[in-house]
Amino acid sequence: MNDVLVIVPTYDEAQSLPVLLGDLLGAVPEADVLVVDDASPDGTGRIAEQIAAEQHRVHVLHRSGKQGLGAAYRAGFAWALDRGYGVLVEMDADGSHLPRDLPRLLAAVHDADLVIGSRWVPGGEVVNWPWFRRWISRGGTGYARWALGLPVKDTTAGFRAMRAAAVEQIGYQRVASQGYCFQIDMTRRFVDAGLRVTEVPVTFVERVQGRSKMSGAIVREALLRVTVWGVQRRLGGRSARSLER
Ligand code: GDD
Ligand code: MN
Repeated sequence: MNDVLVIVPTYDEAQSLPVLLGDLLGAVPEADVLVVDDASPDGTGRIAEQIAAEQHRVHVLHRSGKQGLGAAYRAGFAWALDRGYGVLVEMDADGSHLPRDLPRLLAAVHDADLVIGSRWVPGGEVVNWPWFRRWISRGGTGYARWALGLPVKDTTAGFRAMRAAAVEQIGYQRVASQGYCFQIDMTRRFVDAGLRVTEVPVTFVERVQGRSKMSGAIVREALLRVTVWGVQRRLGGRSARSLER
C-alpha cells in the first residue's frame, strides 16, 4: 500500500476512465487509486473492475446510484481513512485534471493541509471552455470568495491534495453539500479550522469524451448554501456558525 490515495468519482466515464488511469499510474508511481462509481449506466464500474483486476494499485467502490459528487467523496474519504492513507487526492475522471500536474500538488502538501490545483492563479489556465462555463466558474468562485472571506482564488476546484488527518479534523462527514458546492464547503472548513491552505497553478482541459454533470440544481445549491453561510458569517458569533455544523 502507498501513502497517497487518488480518489476519482465517476458517473458515465467509460471512455475517459481507462485513459486517465493509464496516465495516472505512470505519472505518480507512489499513489494508489480509488474509483468511486455511482452505478454508471454506461458500465464505468465494470470497466474499473477490469482494470483493478490487473492493477493492484487500483481499487473500486460501488455505490447504488447517482448521489452526487459530495456523497461520492465522503464515501471515498471514509474508505481511505479506514485503511490509513496519509494523503488524499481529489481528481476528475474526464481528463480535465492532468496527471502530470499531480506531482506538484503532492510536493506542496508536505507543507500544507490542503493544496488546491488552481485555474485562477498566475500560471493556471483553462483550455477549451466555452465562455459561459468560464463565466459560471469565475462568478461562482468569486462570489464564494467574497461571501465567505476565503483567501483562495479557485474555491470550486476539483483537483486537490489533502492531509488525511486534516480531512478527519474538519469533520468531512458533516459536509452536507451534494454537488460541486462540496468543494467550497471543504475549502471553508479548512480555512475556518486555521489549517494551511495553498494553491498551485494547474491547466484544466475541458473533456473531449462524455458529458459534464453540471446542472442548474448544482448551481442553485451552491448559490443558496454560500449565501446562507455568508449571512451567518456576517451576523457573526459562534452561535450562528454552530447552527449549521
Ligand atoms: N460518483 C459520482 N457521482 N461521480 C460524479 C457525480 C456523481 O453524482 N457527478 C459528477 N461525478 C464525477 C464525474 O464523472 C467526473 O469524474 C467528476 O465527478 C467531475 O464531474 P464533471 O461533470 O466532469 O464536472 P465539470 O467538468 O462540469 O466541473 C468541474 O468544475 C467544477 C467547478 O469548478 C470539476 O472540476 C468539478 O470538480 C468542479 O467543482
Ligand atoms: Mn469535467
